[in-house]
This record gives sequence, structure tokens and C-alpha cells, in this order.
Amino acid sequence: MPKQVKLIIDTDPGIDDAMAIFYAAAAPEIELLGLTTIFGNVTTQMATRNALRLLEWLGHENVPVAQGLSQPRELPPFPPTAIVHGEEGFGDIPAAEPRGAKIKETAPEFLARMARELKGELVICPIGPLTNIAAALDLDPEFAKNVGRIVLMGGSLEEGGNITPHAEANIYHDPHAAECVFASGANITMVGLDVTHRILCTASYFDAMEAAAPRLGALINKMSRFYLHFYTTVGKHDGCSLHDPAAIIACTHPELFTPRAVPVAVSCNPETSGATLLASDARPSTDVLMTVDAIAVKRQFLSVMSNLD
Ligand code: BDR
Ligand code: CA
Repeated sequence: MPKQVKLIIDTDPGIDDAMAIFYAAAAPEIELLGLTTIFGNVTTQMATRNALRLLEWLGHENVPVAQGLSQPRELPPFPPTAIVHGEEGFGDIPAAEPRGAKIKETAPEFLARMARELKGELVICPIGPLTNIAAALDLDPEFAKNVGRIVLMGGSLEEGGNITPHAEANIYHDPHAAECVFASGANITMVGLDVTHRILCTASYFDAMEAAAPRLGALINKMSRFYLHFYTTVGKHDGCSLHDPAAIIACTHPELFTPRAVPVAVSCNPETSGATLLASDARPSTDVLMTVDAIAVKRQFLSVMSNLD
């Protein structure tokens, strides 16, 4: 099958980031052109190490990894979210040094260059805070026009938050960057909690993944136990959300979601920091995904992940 989607993932790996990256590497429609790293679930340095480890596990060490910025645009740094993703980002799996190394270009430089070279063809899927994307906009005034699509995991229009009552974690961790991105005029799809809270998986789902792919499926199954445990402590949902994989699937299977085109702004006020709201100015609309065929998304995810080994 021809590769239709030329993709760079901006990521803070992270358990669901690991799931998303494994999926993207195995999906026949996706050409994975690089990973760029950001803080969030872990520090940026740990994110780079984890991204390199994921590529090593996949046997895709030829995919470049560019390291991103280490703190939010205006806010002081946040500690990693070890309670959700574990001390090192992959649940109970201990830290290890990867064989590979990051490239010399920074994440914003790499993103800006790739968007320029691929003019309109590059899809960027940010699945962490939007700091690197805002920095790429600063670096190249043409970036918003050069990038084909930005399909981001983050935000919530009607679902409320997951890190505060108002905010989803990725937007909360750098609201000023997110505001720049939503105001930029780039072609943006927001894959937020309105849909990812509908895509819930229990332990038996990840057991099936391990049965089909005993090496890499088992790694994801192991990580998922930690993630599922966190979700039981929150007590809100039966299972864990496929947040980041949903954004990758939305890049290639938009028919599984329903968008609502609205202008999105981000609150930078301390009381509601990181909330995604309807913008009151004349900025271009974002396609906010509002409904999802969750059964089909889970079927799609499992079928690609089953071919991982
Ligand atoms: C987002 O926050 C992170 O914990 C996850 O990796 C995902 O990108 C969900 O709110
Ligand atoms: Ca993430």
C-alpha cells in the first residue's frame, strides 16, 4: 500500500505516547519521518531517551529524534506526571540508555525545515504540550502555511478537564504555546477529551494485544497495567483512555470521528489555565472532534498493533 501520510510525532513518552508511536510505526498508511520531544509526562531529556528506546524496540533506529524545549513558554517548569506514567515514563519498566542518539537540529528547527521541504504534505501530530510547535511558528513565519495539517491530542470543548476541572494536561502544561498554535492559522484538528474519554480499554484488551504480538504487544501490555491502575484510582472511567493513539488514528481515519469547526482559544488566566474555549476574535476555525466510533477505533488500533512483531 502506498504511504499516504508523512508524519512527525511531537511527544512526551509516556505510556499512551508509546502506544501511539508503536501504532504509527506499524500502520501501513503512515510514513514516520521523525519524533520530536517535549516535557510533560517526563522531562524533555527523558522524553528524548524514551523516544530513542521506543525506536530501538521497534527496530526503526533510522527514524530521527530531535530534542525540544525544556520548559513552557511563560510558566515555570512542571514536575513530570510520574503518578500516571511511572518514574521513567513507561510504568514499572526501569530506565535504560538507548543505543541511538538525537540529531543535531532542535525540534523546532527540524519541524520548520521538514514543513518547508514537504510544503503542504507534512502532518504533525503533537501528543504533548505545544511548546515546540509554538517555537517553530516563531522560527519560520511561513511555518503555519508550510505544514499540511496539525492533528493534536489535547484540549476539551464540552468534556471538562483531566488535570484540573477546566483543563486537559497537554494544554495545561503550556497554555501560552497552545494559544499561539490555535491562533496561527495552520490547519488544525483537535483530538481532545470529548472523544478520548469515550475510547476506553480494559486489561483484557491489552492481553489480546500481547497474545497477537508476544514481543512488542507484551511491552505495551506491561506498561498498560500501570496506566490502568492510575485510572482505577481516579475512579471516573472503566478502563484507560487511548488518548495519544486516537490522534494518530484521526490522521489516517477521519471518517471514524465527527468534527465541529469552531475558533479555539486557550485560557491563560490562573483560575482556568489551559481551558480550551470558543475564541471571540476572528481567528480561523479548528476542527474539534466531538464524536467517535470508539468500537471502530479500538478495532483499528488492535488490528495494527497485532502486526507489531
Ligand atoms: C495527555 O496527557 C498525557 O498524560 C498523555 O500522554 C496524553 O498526551 C492526555 O491528557
Ligand atoms: Ca502524551
